[in-house]
Amino acid sequence: MLIQWSPKFATGNALVDRQHQALFEAVNAFDENLEAGMSRERLDETLDFLARYVQEHFSTEEFLMLGAGFPGLARHKQEHDRLIARVKFIRDLRDQDPALVPAEGLARFLGDWLQSHILGWDLALFDHLRTHPQPGAPQ
Ligand SMILES: [Fe+2]
Repeated sequence: MLIQWSPKFATGNALVDRQHQALFEAVNAFDENLEAGMSRERLDETLDFLARYVQEHFSTEEFLMLGAGFPGLARHKQEHDRLIARVKFIRDLRDQDPALVPAEGLARFLGDWLQSHILGWDLALFDHLRTHPQPGAPQ
């Protein structure tokens, strides 16, 4: 197992925590498929699923930030957009020549990014939402 979810990653938002846990599982599945010697096509399918799920998850967080009038929305969204652009770039490179971006490094990169983004950005976000409740905002 490449990365493991633990309570230190808990944001306190049940939906977001479930999505984060699913992302940990998807990164681990990608890594395990890699170790199992899965074909490049199947591996890239797993990567595409991961990329789609990441986008869905980012939309959830951005919707919550918008609903709560979170002042750091633009900066947080920029972090999300950077990751999406990076994954797209990597995916395009792999289409040209998989050797340009070995999947081993990719699994680790995604795992590291996910963990540091949750600990650095998401915990701060949900801490702010907890301490600045907005009447009528989605929880
Ligand atoms: Fe985030």
